[in-house]
Amino acid sequence: MSIFPYFTYLNKKIYYKINNSKNDGAIIFIHGSGEHSFVWKSQINDLDIDFNLIAIDLPSHGKSDKYENLSLEIYVEAVRQLVNALELKGVVLCGHSLGGAIAQQYYLKYRDNVIGLILCSTGAKLRVLPVILENTLHNFDTFLNNIPVGAFYRKTKEKIKKSYIEEVSKIEPKVVHTDFKICDNFDVIDNIGSIDVPCLILVGDADKLTPVKYAKFFKKNIEDSTLKIIEKAGHSVMIEKPNKVNNAIKSFIKNKISDN
Ligand code: COA
Repeated sequence: MSIFPYFTYLNKKIYYKINNSKNDGAIIFIHGSGEHSFVWKSQINDLDIDFNLIAIDLPSHGKSDKYENLSLEIYVEAVRQLVNALELKGVVLCGHSLGGAIAQQYYLKYRDNVIGLILCSTGAKLRVLPVILENTLHNFDTFLNNIPVGAFYRKTKEKIKKSYIEEVSKIEPKVVHTDFKICDNFDVIDNIGSIDVPCLILVGDADKLTPVKYAKFFKKNIEDSTLKIIEKAGHSVMIEKPNKVNNAIKSFIKNKISDN
């Protein structure tokens, strides 16, 4: 059963979706730039594992309250507050794109209770094309119109692309712009070798925004890592190929997390 509760962070409300299990373990799903928890719908609803499945709406995204001065730090601390509020022990952080940057930064700061990472369509450095920064600031409609080409495999169903764009269009343009600025400034290339928890790396073979090269960098530098390249998928792999992503997560949890 999924419900939609909230916790407070800096005196404001942060919402999350949760699908409870009896197990103490939890996967926290963190969305990317201009997104909200909707991107993890197929994981929260259909992932068949005995883990609490939680998807956060980051500050100023989805149902969560609006915050001034968004930053990577604020996003990391919001996730930290979720972990504290739910008294979670031993979390797996699963982040998409910007969400992957948040997961990495969280791990580097608070590695104590992270037992695994799922890095989905992301990188250790996330430089952003100037045209994306420009359009999110001055031509938001053009940015939205370009999403099907930039964020999806060309043959992904129109219906999937359309509903994604509909959700992104609900996020304030200046928030989307700030998200991409945060990505553009993100660079933990030199720290990746210190990751010492099991790590699942997911990427679509047709990802233009965070290409397979970024995923291979993770694979090469993270000792206990598994790389899964998903065919016929772009940057929005968890929406484009939900069953394949869920199977990969399920076998990662079974083989690398639950057994330890
Ligand atoms: N992992 C491994 N290698 C990476 C990396 C990552 N996360 N990010 C960059 N690199 C590599 C690049 O491949 C490049 O290697 P090369 O010199 O051997 O070709 C080098 O580091 C420098 O790349 P970068 O820092 O990205 O600078 P750039 O000036 O070459 O390119 C962009 C800048 C914006 C054109 C480029 O980063 C890009 O095309 N980005 C993808 C599109 C985008 O906007 N993505 C949004 C992400 S949220």
